[in-house]
Amino acid sequence: MADEKSETQSSNQMWGGRFASGPDAIMEEINASIGFDKKLYAQDIRGSIAHATMLAHKGIISADDKDKIVAGLQQILSEIESGAFEFSRKLEDIHMNVEARLATLIGPAAGRLHTARSRNDQVALDFRLWVKEELQKTEKMLSALIAAFLDRAEEHAETVMPGFTHLQTAQPVTFGHHCMAYVEMFGRDRARVRHAIEHMDESPIGAAALAGTGFPIDRHMTAKALGFREPTRNSIDTVSDRDFALEFLSIAAIAATHLSRLAEEIVIWSTPQFGFIRLSDAFSTGSSIMPQKKNPDAAELVRAKTGRINGSLVALLTVMKGLPLAYSKDMQEDKEQVFDAAENLELAIAAMTGMVRDMTVRTDRMKAAAGSGYSTATDLADWLVREAGLPFRDAHHVTGRAVALAEQKGCELSALSLDELQAINPAITEKVYDVLTVEASVASRTSFGGTAPANVRQQIAWWRERN
Ligand code: ARG
Repeated sequence: MADEKSETQSSNQMWGGRFASGPDAIMEEINASIGFDKKLYAQDIRGSIAHATMLAHKGIISADDKDKIVAGLQQILSEIESGAFEFSRKLEDIHMNVEARLATLIGPAAGRLHTARSRNDQVALDFRLWVKEELQKTEKMLSALIAAFLDRAEEHAETVMPGFTHLQTAQPVTFGHHCMAYVEMFGRDRARVRHAIEHMDESPIGAAALAGTGFPIDRHMTAKALGFREPTRNSIDTVSDRDFALEFLSIAAIAATHLSRLAEEIVIWSTPQFGFIRLSDAFSTGSSIMPQKKNPDAAELVRAKTGRINGSLVALLTVMKGLPLAYSKDMQEDKEQVFDAAENLELAIAAMTGMVRDMTVRTDRMKAAAGSGYSTATDLADWLVREAGLPFRDAHHVTGRAVALAEQKGCELSALSLDELQAINPAITEKVYDVLTVEASVASRTSFGGTAPANVRQQIAWWRERN
């Protein structure tokens, strides 16, 4: 015995490191989830109250025990909320922490609460409730962001700016139209959120460990009490899958990617070189050494948050990919990824909504840039097709020659004289100048979904009805 102990102690020095007290301490630390799953306390207590109420209703526990359980759980809830509750890592997780405290408070009746359930369906329930509430919050936050964009789009339905492809000036568009592109993206994100809520609107409780239970429980009753549409249909699936968490993370990753692209545009637009927008002081910082600087820190951090949110998705996908049915402890690693992604997504949406609301749009700078870089070359080509009957390929060629001449002279297309244009193609008339301005260019793009101010206003109205 003595020999064995000293052997454990000496080998523990080799592999135990900071875990002075040996394997028990290592096991406790790797096994415990209370450090993060205490976030689920409200859902855990709500789930337990619904379960106990159902058990009493079905005569599985007495009404008297149910009353004691419910009163005890309510007391625990206020203890946790007031900060008086002492969480213990020895008790592993939120479920055992609450149950142990209940036993202290009400005695043996506490032991009846866990009838016809397991921590497997309990954690599936708590986490699902949490993710569902988070999605409801995300939906509201996306609506606020969309509302901010709709206001800016309305204000700038006629503001011309350069539209880009390859970040090279392509064709003039309106800033309102550009804003509405983001409304479409965040609108789809919100639709994904709504769809996910519907998808996961099934109650796990009563699946028990994996096979269901022989007790005459009523899962429809607990589902209803907890605000779910219906109970889940397969007990094995219920305790095995975390696709509701993966769906949340996928939606978060896509939304974060949209936010990141917008953040990147804000970074570019706010440079002195572009100068399309000025960020409010609230969402930028100064430099400690260069007094002229105003840095778009909030936008940069929104862009960066995408990294950890995408990382969380990949982390949980990787945790889940090799797991045999049903529950495995690996699944305990689902929560931190979701909590971290949720917290950072909320922050990113809030910061972005603030930036969009507060930024100053420099319409003069946008307009000047919109007119440079031969952005109306396509309009000239289209005019040649429409008014002079040229095939588009020929019109493209003629326009190319006009652009080359303007480039050589260092001027815009609209600054070429009629003589110069007619020397390139005699069919060109004075009327061509009507399409060479940026305003004429955007006003002409009236195809459905195009950038013409009237179209943009139509899309704004469509979204206002749905926001
Ligand atoms: N803390 C655990 C988790 O988050 C609860 C479920 C434990 N179930 C079990 N069979 N050990 O996954």
